[in-house]
Amino acid sequence: MKVIAVRDYKEMSQTAAKTIIRLVKEKPDAVLGLATGGTVIGVYDELISDYARNETDYGHAHSVNLDEYVGLSSDHPQSYHSYMNEHLFQHINLPPEHCHVPQGDAEDPAQEAKQYDQLIAELDGVDLQLLGIGRNGHIGFNEPGTSFSSHTHLVELTASTREANARYFTSMNEVPTHAITMGIASILKSKRIVLLVSGEAKAAILAEVLQSDVTTSIPATVLKMHPDVTVIADQDALQVV
Ligand code: GLP
Repeated sequence: MKVIAVRDYKEMSQTAAKTIIRLVKEKPDAVLGLATGGTVIGVYDELISDYARNETDYGHAHSVNLDEYVGLSSDHPQSYHSYMNEHLFQHINLPPEHCHVPQGDAEDPAQEAKQYDQLIAELDGVDLQLLGIGRNGHIGFNEPGTSFSSHTHLVELTASTREANARYFTSMNEVPTHAITMGIASILKSKRIVLLVSGEAKAAILAEVLQSDVTTSIPATVLKMHPDVTVIADQDALQVV
């Protein structure tokens, strides 16, 4: 795992955005693995302002998102699909039919998960997967204890993850209890992975990930088994290391 230490959130976002822009220029039909959460919003802002300035062309690119809440339709305001529309998709020329997010309101979530893996395989895999990290070390919604051989699957969210994400909902009761997430094995199939870590609240988990052996109790440690992972972390997140 290569660690790039940057000054702050802005520099982290710019560094990650540059990597994505370079990839799309080199490979116009790149498959971008995208994430949600607060950490990655700055990257999307940078991609949007680059698009406005340079018209970087996403017309042949595809995106596959890591996860979606079960029970929320794609147009539900708190769905990850709506998040992606708001923060990225509607601002660049990525064709809507190329933007893939698991369908949270699928009748059979297990079947939806299976089809999602097939879709990624049909796209010939993810070229670059962007990741954030949960405070318990989760990646996507792969909570501690998830098997490293897991493919896209249905998960029950832990109390701490639901609490951390409650800020986007009006009450805790509204926070979904389950999600569909790309599994650890699906994530590891990506050709390159970029993990972003920002802020004091992530300092303890980042130190654990960097110092610990690979263990299912800290899902992000599995990234040490992948040959091309770059962690971009800011000073606040690196303070315990
Ligand atoms: C959610 C998402 C993860 C994300 C994590 C961290 O649980 N499923 O993909 O990495 O939140 O979010 P934040 O960046 O807001 O701290």
